[in-house]
Amino acid sequence: MRVAVGSDHAGCSLKERVVAHLRGLDHEIDDLGTHGPESVDYPDFGRRVALAVAQGKAERGILVCGTGQGMAITANKVPGIRAAVVSDVLSARMAMAHNDARVLCLGERIVGPGLALLLVDAWLGARFEGGRHARRVGKIEVG
Ligand code: RB5
Repeated sequence: MRVAVGSDHAGCSLKERVVAHLRGLDHEIDDLGTHGPESVDYPDFGRRVALAVAQGKAERGILVCGTGQGMAITANKVPGIRAAVVSDVLSARMAMAHNDARVLCLGERIVGPGLALLLVDAWLGARFEGGRHARRVGKIEVG
């Protein structure tokens, strides 16, 4: 799967772990930064990844900041994008299965790296179930 990945400084180290993990599983990763500990603004990277998904350049997007919240708020402003912050495996799976959230947001200050990779795997391995969930998601789109 082609996955766009981004973080701010507070999420960079977890983002690197996620990138290494996904490359090890043969996913095609677009790492859109940031690439170091220097302080940056999360909306710059959140928007970049969300746009990559919205424009079809990536099938999924993963964003990491300190809590995941700023990234999710940013990504959800991009038309067509549903981004979910998760810190448990069931929510990660259901964010895809029921909510068709193609962008996953993680907080490096919230979840440890082991759990974070389980969350990524649960979400990437899930498929949107459609049906009544498609109707509900459609109602989000039209406001
Ligand atoms: C950066 O200090 C922090 O505010 C940011 O990473 C994120 O948690 C915002 O939601």
